[in-house]
Amino acid sequence: MKIYTTKKEIAPIIEGLRKKQLTIGLVPTMGALHQGHISLVKTALEETDQVIASIFVNPTQFNNQDDLDKYPRPFEQDIQMLKRISENIIVYAPTPEDIYDGTVKSENYEFDGLENPMEGKFRKGHFDGVGSIVRRLFETLKPSVAYFGEKDYQQLLVIKKLVEKLRIPVEIKGCPILRESDGLAMSSRNGRLSKIDRDAAPFIFKTLNTAKKMFGIKSATKVMEWVTKQFAAHPLLKLEYFQIADSATLEPINRKSKTKTYRAFIAVYAGDVRLIDNIALN
Ligand code: PAJ
Repeated sequence: MKIYTTKKEIAPIIEGLRKKQLTIGLVPTMGALHQGHISLVKTALEETDQVIASIFVNPTQFNNQDDLDKYPRPFEQDIQMLKRISENIIVYAPTPEDIYDGTVKSENYEFDGLENPMEGKFRKGHFDGVGSIVRRLFETLKPSVAYFGEKDYQQLLVIKKLVEKLRIPVEIKGCPILRESDGLAMSSRNGRLSKIDRDAAPFIFKTLNTAKKMFGIKSATKVMEWVTKQFAAHPLLKLEYFQIADSATLEPINRKSKTKTYRAFIAVYAGDVRLIDNIALN
């Protein structure tokens, strides 16, 4: 397994792959890998000639210094996990200075409104940070295909918009959400949950599932009111937002339209750990 930490080191490797006309599959991550990340890597291995997994905790996408400081960084463990899947994966783990050319700052992006609701509303500047790092990863690693999880569904749409607007020649593939056996969406932050919060957390997906059933027979407003009530009564989980939105534009639902598809999005605090999830409704 080869690990590269600078643009200068990896540039000739990328050039070599491109000269041989091999396809590059990129899986961008912030490390603390779990089976959700691994599922993206496995899909990339099936579909492309050379897989690159990037591991980089991107400071510019954190709106909360404490969240950034506490973000887990078990680098050695991550490498072992990737090695077990394939020795042939390239790991790109840059320093902030190298990938940002000395100035660790994000640019401002406009993603046709996709950046405004939900994660964009509650994490100011988050998608500018995501856009800034993903653009740099694409420029440096020149992938043919890049893999993103539907766990961060809004991020997936933002990145599709980024490559469309900047005309970056890469195919963006969305991959399904992997869950623990009790339904909790896998996340690098789950390990930070206390035992009691971890036991409570499956309530999030359970509520999403009931909301989905209700959405078939009740108005979106009724469903949103019901979800808000469930969390108001919960002793441990604090609801930040629950939103039903158009799956393509992320515009909040007004009135159900038969020609549109919708998704429900949720962000919840368990102690100081912020968890997000989403579900397709129709
Ligand atoms: P990170 O949270 O490490 O996630 C890396 C990729 O794994 C993302 O595409 C995310 O959607 C996917 N993923 C996370 N949990 C998943 C799950 N339970 N099932 C399926 N896929 C899952 O998302 C980021 O990092 C960063 O914002 C990044 C894109 C790397 C830019 O810094």
